[in-house]
Amino acid sequence: MEIIHTPREMTAWANRTRAAAETIALVPTMGAFHDGHLALMRAAAQRADRLVVSLFVNPIQFGASEDLDRYPRNLKRDAELAAAQGTDILFAPAAEAMYPRGFATKVGVAGLTDTLCGASRPGHFDGVTTVVAKLFNLVKPQVAVFGEKDFQQLAVIRRMVADLAWDIDVVGHPIVREADGLAMSSRNVYLAPEERQAALGLSRALAHARQRVAAGETDTERLLAGVRQALLARPGVTIDYLSVVHGQSLVAQERIDADSVLLVAALVGTTRLIDNTPLP
Ligand code: PAF
Repeated sequence: MEIIHTPREMTAWANRTRAAAETIALVPTMGAFHDGHLALMRAAAQRADRLVVSLFVNPIQFGASEDLDRYPRNLKRDAELAAAQGTDILFAPAAEAMYPRGFATKVGVAGLTDTLCGASRPGHFDGVTTVVAKLFNLVKPQVAVFGEKDFQQLAVIRRMVADLAWDIDVVGHPIVREADGLAMSSRNVYLAPEERQAALGLSRALAHARQRVAAGETDTERLLAGVRQALLARPGVTIDYLSVVHGQSLVAQERIDADSVLLVAALVGTTRLIDNTPLP
């Protein structure tokens, strides 16, 4: 595996690879790899001749009071893990290389970004779509794989790719969970042992909601009341949002149907966690 640090070298590699008629898959990441990232890499490696993993803690998607400075970083460990999954290129640019002096462009998706995480984290999705657009232009992938844990992010990126007519297959990968159900996240390392226990409330509440829908519940308000109660019973948990939405449009639904997805964001202590589940 080769590590590339500059956009110029990344583009040169992408051009050579395309000229050799080899296909490219991209997994965009912010590093601090866990098994969820590694599963994305393995899935992506099967879909193209060459695999590029980008590792960039993107400053413009963090709010002023968020965890940019303490976000976990370990390039050496991440490089070893990426190489072991068959990654050809680890693209790890510096912030100054991605956003040089004078950088003034913003890529934004309207509508889909107004709700849920977009409402709680103003500007976050503009940061995500701007960096992903730049990564697509540098890496020139035919396939890009994203985790479904960031459900809204995936919907926003699909919209951007369709609207801007990029010939890129955006693939969502199912959430990878710990044995006890907690959705894997780079932010789980922030959790103290008792918070880690409280954080289990998210996946447990979603699983319970799924069971209730399987048993015939179709009323969103009733379903959410039960989920809210289960979450708040956990010490140190504050709900940011809890919503049943249509899986593509992200419009809130009063009645649960085959397209419904239940999304939750909560603070456990000071750590913001998200999770989601399709409702059967
Ligand atoms: O999901 C992430 O890790 C980030 O939002 C992404 C897609 C790599 C953009 O910085």
